[in-house]
Amino acid sequence: MKAKKRFLSLVLFGGIICIGLTQCAKDGAEGPAGTNGTNGVDASVVSTADQTAYNSANGLKGGLAYNEFFIPQTDFPQPADTLITNHPDFFRCASCHGMDLLGVNGAAITNVPAATTPNVSSINLNTYAAAHNIKQIFDAVKHTGGRLRQAITYNSLTSLNSNMPDYGLIMGDGMIWNIVKYLKENAVNTDKLYDLTTSGAYPGGVASFTNIGKDGNAIKGKVYYNANCTTAGCHNSTGSIPSTVETVGSILRAEPANAYHLIKFGFPGTAMINLPYQLTAMPDTTLQNLFKAISDTTAFPN
Ligand code: HEC
Repeated sequence: MKAKKRFLSLVLFGGIICIGLTQCAKDGAEGPAGTNGTNGVDASVVSTADQTAYNSANGLKGGLAYNEFFIPQTDFPQPADTLITNHPDFFRCASCHGMDLLGVNGAAITNVPAATTPNVSSINLNTYAAAHNIKQIFDAVKHTGGRLRQAITYNSLTSLNSNMPDYGLIMGDGMIWNIVKYLKENAVNTDKLYDLTTSGAYPGGVASFTNIGKDGNAIKGKVYYNANCTTAGCHNSTGSIPSTVETVGSILRAEPANAYHLIKFGFPGTAMINLPYQLTAMPDTTLQNLFKAISDTTAFPN
């Protein structure tokens, strides 16, 4: 939760009021409407144009966009629509689907919907992305002209509903392809990083994380940490964070799904930009090694 607040504290951009989602906030020319038929019947054919668009997409930008698509680092045109930036949780994929992609069956089982927070989806996007081809995923996100969804509506300017937004009205195709590539290739199945146990039920269930780092190598993780995370005064050798009393260890152990995303995709707006990994994806083994090293409460105390 704390990390989520950290993400959100960055998103309060000023901006020119832009009337109507259809009139602004596109990141490129709109492509043809999705051909996913009606009411959830998917297209199954991947055209050459689809494949070409997918191949040139950037899954690391897609990862950033999964968390916060409306920031400049994702190439989203600025200023972003204030309907979005004033109510970010109703538009961020991660707020409805979880940073671990597991929806109500993941870390977000603990969430509780509120005026500023939507319901969490029951869909598992890990298995969805594995079971569907790139065009099907694209159409599920850009469902203009296809799958039936209810429109987002205001409720007294304090709350929006929990329906999946029609991103065909918000994003250009390029950004949607980036997100498709993220879901297909760059998201990490958190089963590789830790064991998740849940109890109770959404909303307000309990999630616990054990066996953090699982198959990782702590020695390699520490070597990597010392070489990459302590430079320029960012963190000290035991995991201090300059801007807070929290530590690398306390955050990673309490919120491992948020932590993996921060480490791999960076935290735009802070020094934690992690630029190299926006050019080349961090391998899962590096994350596993880091997780293993940082699971050690002596080496990385709270
Ligand atoms: C406000 C909540 C909300 C947000 C934000 C949201 N979704 Fe969803 N999403 C849902 C719900 C609810 C469903 C399941 C029901 C449905 O199809 O509407 C869903 C379904 C899906 C599906 C499966 C489609 C299907 O019909 O089987 C995919 C893929 C998906 N979302 C991806 C995304 C991506 C990618 C983003 C961000 C660009 C996103 N969602 C943002 C709520 C949300």
